[in-house]
Amino acid sequence: MRQAGRSLPEYRAVREHADILRICREPELAAEVTLQPVRRLGVDAAILFSDITVPLVAMGVDIKIVPGTGPVLERPIRSMADLERIGQFEPNTHAPFVADAVRLAVAELEVPLIGFAGGPFTLASYLIEGGPSKTHTLTRKLMYCEPELWEQLLSRLADIATASLRAQVDAGAQAVQVFESWAGVLSVDSYRRFVLPAAARIFAGVADLGVPRIHFGVGTGELLELMAEAGADVVGVDWRVPLDRARARLGAQTAVQGNLDPVACLAPWEVLSEHVDAVLERGGGRGHIFNLGHGVLPETSPDMLKRIVERVHQRSSTAQTTSPTGGAD
Ligand code: CP3
Repeated sequence: MRQAGRSLPEYRAVREHADILRICREPELAAEVTLQPVRRLGVDAAILFSDITVPLVAMGVDIKIVPGTGPVLERPIRSMADLERIGQFEPNTHAPFVADAVRLAVAELEVPLIGFAGGPFTLASYLIEGGPSKTHTLTRKLMYCEPELWEQLLSRLADIATASLRAQVDAGAQAVQVFESWAGVLSVDSYRRFVLPAAARIFAGVADLGVPRIHFGVGTGELLELMAEAGADVVGVDWRVPLDRARARLGAQTAVQGNLDPVACLAPWEVLSEHVDAVLERGGGRGHIFNLGHGVLPETSPDMLKRIVERVHQRSSTAQTTSPTGGAD
């Protein structure tokens, strides 16, 4: 998630003199902000500081990240001719700073680093709409009206994600996550027909690397099985879906990640801790990665985040020692 984003004072201090894309382009800065939440919160994994738009920006696509809004393009992608602007991504040529940041972060970290890429639907939506959208109307319209253009765009975006993830793992990332944040706007049939093939290419394209592959989306309760079918080892779910139900639907071969409501982090500890316990309870221990259901809100208190991490550690270690098999989870 955008976890360091906006809630940590030490992150804000860096942001005072550098915009997001500059932090992403400067390996020392990117590595430093990657480490910040690990140092302060004691979480069990770090996520690389970068953005889903970074490969596209590095290839010359005119995307700006506007604070409080998100990625914005002056010239959206709407035709076959526009597609020429989305070329082949060569990580070592276009964005060597990403691998450099991974190497610097991994050298300092005592926990695994998660590399990531934007999912094809989510990136296509920014490219087609020209900015964030609630309904993704232009995106879905293009998908239905120009299936050939859609397929070519998604296949290019899948190749970009695959190349980017491979470069991050080569540089030392120990897990990968595909952020298909906005796919929840699609029906099951549309997802299966218009997005699943591209998603499956990404997961197949990193399968030989042997790292866990996480597939996350918001409002994707009805898409969980398909997101697993794409080839993910772990499916991330938001707070709407009870984790025990997600697990029942996904089966024992797929782990789940999630799913504390980010807004619960704004409640007093007595309320928040109940939410945390409920997530752990429904997550069921082994095969569950505790996380928020989406990114940390800017107004969240870092102290509350720290208490959540402590609570999860405390409850998980109790669960381990009382587990009937006695095995470490
Ligand atoms: O440490 C971390 O925060 C992880 C690094 C990270 C960022 N973006 C940096 C960032 C990650 C994993 C992302 C992923 C990302 N970016 C997603 C997928 C995950 C999700 O949240 O659904 C999406 C959809 C984006 C696109 C994007 N970039 C949005 C919607 C925004 C928010 C704009 C805003 O200000 O509300 C961004 C900007 C961005 N990227 C921030 C961070 C930390 C926001 C904070 C800031 O302005 O410094």
